[in-house]
Order: sequence, then structure tokens, then C-alpha cells
Amino acid sequence: MKKILSIFTLFLTILGLNNQVQGGEMDMENTKKLVVYFSKTGEQYSVGNITEGNTAIIAKMIATQTGADLFEVKVKNDTYPTTYKALTEVALAEKKASARPEIVGDVANFAEYDVVFIGTPNWWADLPMALYTFMEAHDWNGKKIAPFVTHEGSGLSSIPSKIKNVTNAEVFEGLAVYGHVAQNSRDEAEKEVSAWLKKLGF
Ligand SMILES: Cc1cc2nc3c(=O)[nH]c(=O)nc-3n(C[C@H](O)[C@H](O)[C@H](O)COP(=O)(O)O)c2cc1C
Repeated sequence: MKKILSIFTLFLTILGLNNQVQGGEMDMENTKKLVVYFSKTGEQYSVGNITEGNTAIIAKMIATQTGADLFEVKVKNDTYPTTYKALTEVALAEKKASARPEIVGDVANFAEYDVVFIGTPNWWADLPMALYTFMEAHDWNGKKIAPFVTHEGSGLSSIPSKIKNVTNAEVFEGLAVYGHVAQNSRDEAEKEVSAWLKKLGF
């Protein structure tokens, strides 16, 4: 029976149909991993004034569960409003202008990473422009990207394909977590993160 099953698996692999593990044939445990994220504190939708951003919470869970290094993308001379409505207006203006805000510092030895988790709040169905600054500044050739998003109803939007367009890397199925779940129901968020990582083969 075992032999029949492995012949069947081999057959599916030849046909390219044995694709359940999203990470493909890579041994995810032994890859070098990085979590790059953007996240805001201050007033956020549905959670009030927060001292740790929703996406930051998920980023740290992923780093802990996978042993990845962490890099937070921060805007130089950050003048973003700390009230929600004002922030949405500034973010929309930046999106319309395709702004590329200057960011602080850089990842050490970016070339060494095999897998990069990119974490972002859903801002107007897009990433904050600072993440484009980051993506455009790096060579993604041969890298795999696992996108994760926090949101308050829109889910992933088309954020994974936007990442694909900029990087041309292999982009895995994304994770979308409600911001208020990340902030206020950490056990639930942790479970969503674990299930997603497992599905990707980590
Ligand atoms: C500028 C801005 C735009 C947003 N646009 C959307 C949106 O289009 N859809 C959505 O579901 N949530 C939207 N949100 C809510 C955020 O995605 C959500 O609160 C997220 O968890 C914030 O993450 P952070 O604390 O890591 O910055 C927006 C929030 C802000 C500040």
C-alpha cells in the first residue's frame, strides 16, 4: 500500500499537482528567515490608543515561532498623525502621490535571507508607501516572501500581488488577521499564525 502511495505521490509531483505544502520543496526549518514589518502605535481603528501596533504583535509572534530576525520599517523624521482620522488622510495623500518616504536604517546582510515575511497594516487596500521604499531598495532574486496583513475588514485586499509586482519574488499565500484580534485576543491570533505557518511548511 505504502509503495502504491509513494508511486502516486511521485506521479503527482511529476505532473506538478502535489502542491499542498505552499512552501514547495524547500525545507523551511533550515532556511534563514527575516520578518520585515511596518506598524503604528497611537490611535487605531476599533482598538483606541495602542502602545504596540497590531502588525508588530503578529510580526513578533512569527519571529518567535520561526526563529526569524526582525526588522521594523520606520519613516525618517516621522510626522504621521497619532489620531486615526488624520492618519488616514495623510496615508491616502501619500498613496495618491505614490510617495516613497525615506526610511531609517537597513537590514544587515539582506542577501543572506531565503524567506522574508512582509508584514503590513492594510492601508486603503494597499501597503504604507514606506514598505515600497523598502521593497524597491532590495534585490529579491531567489527569495520567497510570506505576506501578512492586519486589517479591520478588508483582509489581504490585493496586497500579495502588489508585493509580487514590485519584487518579482515567489510570494506565498498570505495571512490576514483582524487588528483588534491581534491587539485584544492574542491567543486567537497566535493560533491563526501557527495554522498559517504550518500550512506554508514552517
Ligand atoms: C491609514 C489607514 C488606512 C486604513 N485602511 C484600511 C482599509 O482600507 N481596510 C481595512 O480593513 N482596514 C484599514 N485600516 C485599519 C488598519 O488596517 C488596522 O487597524 C491595522 O490593524 C493597523 O495596524 P497597525 O497597528 O500595525 O498599524 C486602515 C488604517 C489606517 C491607519
